[in-house]
Amino acid sequence: MSQNLKFVTAISGHTTKGLLLRNQPLLDLISEADFVSTLFLSLTGKKPKKNEKKILNAILVASIDHGINPASGFVPRVVASSGNDILTCMASALLALGPYHGGAITNAMNVLKEIAADGDDKEQACERMIDSYRLEKRRIPGFGHPKYRTVDPRAKVLFEMARKDELDIEYMNLAKQLEHSLEQKLNKKLVLNIDGAIAALLLTLGIDPIAGNAMFGVARVAGSIAHIVEEQKSGSWVRRIPEDDVEFAPE
Ligand SMILES: CC(C)(COP(=O)(O)OP(=O)(O)OC[C@H]1O[C@@H](n2cnc3c(N)ncnc32)[C@H](O)[C@@H]1OP(=O)(O)O)[C@@H](O)C(=O)NCCC(=O)NCCS
Repeated sequence: MSQNLKFVTAISGHTTKGLLLRNQPLLDLISEADFVSTLFLSLTGKKPKKNEKKILNAILVASIDHGINPASGFVPRVVASSGNDILTCMASALLALGPYHGGAITNAMNVLKEIAADGDDKEQACERMIDSYRLEKRRIPGFGHPKYRTVDPRAKVLFEMARKDELDIEYMNLAKQLEHSLEQKLNKKLVLNIDGAIAALLLTLGIDPIAGNAMFGVARVAGSIAHIVEEQKSGSWVRRIPEDDVEFAPE
């Protein structure tokens, strides 16, 4: 057998005790666990504490839907209106996400981790991070939102919950410091958005940054299902952009 087809995994496997997921029999989990705890177990190898489970659940709820306006809202409906099956439409919701929409979490986690490791003075560490991004004309992931100019209410509620439930505040404080430093440096408010808030909370939960964007993705794809079903039952086949909304401007 070819060596590159040999997988070694600590996550799950079939044993004489049945399928074990992180050493827990799946058949026991089916009757005893909820989905969020099982997702946490699968990702971290640990069962979540009560407050950890509550905030991961809140993250998923906060990410499930934000109306039809953003790309992940209208793209699956347009794809559904072309007559595609549900899985194709769900995949299109995922493909509509990216670094500017729902896919800034992994990068934001890496930014916050870097700031956490950069000396004792966090204000200065945030300023250094902002300077390095400005030098390269890049946007800081996790900040700014086209709809929210003073506060992203989803981020606010998530942080309030996490603080009330006594989760560690280190990364939440770093995210708020970075928001403050951005306003000072750029002289304009760029809100800590849902991606930035989720980034701080996933680091608090000990979830790997590689998985960061997937937490938003899994929730938004779940949220797309109802939209796809509604669209396909609406009889609005083959959605088109109105002619007035398209300007042909040849060079
Ligand atoms: C989310 C985002 C696309 C919203 O864009 P928007 O509100 O339409 O903002 P605009 O594209 O109009 O940008 C307004 C100005 O703020 C700046 N800006 C916006 N977000 C910024 C950020 N995160 N870091 C630095 N500057 C930013 C833009 O460069 C622009 O500057 P300019 O006027 O000098 O050109 C944008 O804020 C962004 O790219 N954020 C980073 C990625 C991110 O967090 N995505 C997840 C969103 S939930």
